[in-house]
Amino acid sequence: MEQVPFLNLGRQYKLIQKDVHNEWDQVLAQTAFAGGPFVTRFEEAFAAYCQADYAAGVNTGTSALHLAMLAIDIGPGDEVIIPANTFVATAWGVSYCGATPVFVDCDEYHNIDPSAAEAAITKNTKAIAGVHLYGQPCKLDELRKIAEQHQIYLIEDAAQAHGALYKGRRVGSIGDISAFSFYPGKNLGAYGEGGGITTNRKEWIDHIYRLRNHGSEQRYYHDEVGYNMRMDGLQATVLEIKLRHLDQWNDERRRVAEAYLNGITNQAVTLPKVLVDTVPVWHLFVIQTQDRDGLMKHLQNRGVQSALHYPVPCHLQKAYTSLGYKQGDLPRSEALASTCVSLPMFAELTQEERERVIEAVNSYNP
Ligand SMILES: Cc1ncc(COP(=O)(O)O)c(C=O)c1O
Repeated sequence: MEQVPFLNLGRQYKLIQKDVHNEWDQVLAQTAFAGGPFVTRFEEAFAAYCQADYAAGVNTGTSALHLAMLAIDIGPGDEVIIPANTFVATAWGVSYCGATPVFVDCDEYHNIDPSAAEAAITKNTKAIAGVHLYGQPCKLDELRKIAEQHQIYLIEDAAQAHGALYKGRRVGSIGDISAFSFYPGKNLGAYGEGGGITTNRKEWIDHIYRLRNHGSEQRYYHDEVGYNMRMDGLQATVLEIKLRHLDQWNDERRRVAEAYLNGITNQAVTLPKVLVDTVPVWHLFVIQTQDRDGLMKHLQNRGVQSALHYPVPCHLQKAYTSLGYKQGDLPRSEALASTCVSLPMFAELTQEERERVIEAVNSYNP
């Protein structure tokens, strides 16, 4: 029997193949490769979709975080509070600016715990970065209130949450500035690398437009040290095509999640919870179990692929040894790292595959 794939991008490609080829023909004919009109067109569409005033397309989500942090003037001596339970790139953004990431624990929704974030504020804190991990919006109202009270910025890392709603608003429009990844496996993914920034502040987005383009507005005149972090035209067209389908694909992910939430009844497994007043987009469907290796092996034997997000929390990564964190500092994140398992999750999972995943999890006997 064929395996149930963790992710299959080929199925989605078949749905949009013609459009992609047509659009790519135009990009190639106009030789609009690095930046250019197709990127601008996507930026306008993406800003409108996110209910933000402005968007910038860049080369990766990691660059998006880096540039967003540079735009709000994060630099050496500053601290940025981030969840330990995230993909490490949230922390890279801070480190690239010469600032220090301060890791805090997660709440029962696996996202940054606002009270832990508030407790970690010092006189050097410049921002809190809330990550909408697995496509679940974090507690933005609480974070916003804390940020306002302490006069620090709120950054959203929305790399996994394109289209998710928090109290009826799109994520990426609530914090001061937000970063997205368009890595191929994301809910909105390019056919290569890509990233984006949204904000309502014109001076920040203009600065980002310059920074991504060698610190330059006028060719060969460089007002500051910049970067080559432009989005390319081919990726922009793929993203613009996919954006038209995103709500429908996210709906389908919600149907997969609903099937899992209703169908998985194994008491040895803890299912994810959804925060009230949010509409998640289920980038990942992460369950927990004590004998994680045992469950993964069982799934494999049943022909169901699974994955880990993430086996090592950021504060215990070797890259951050110098910050002096130790095992036991952030117990929720550490417990999650040793018990999490991600089940297959993408819009094109067939009915039969969904049922096979549920059957495989329910038949696991630790
Ligand atoms: C939460 C989070 N932040 C940042 C990134 C970095 O994005 P990219 O891989 O596009 O650099 C990712 C994706 O990998 C992510 O999941």
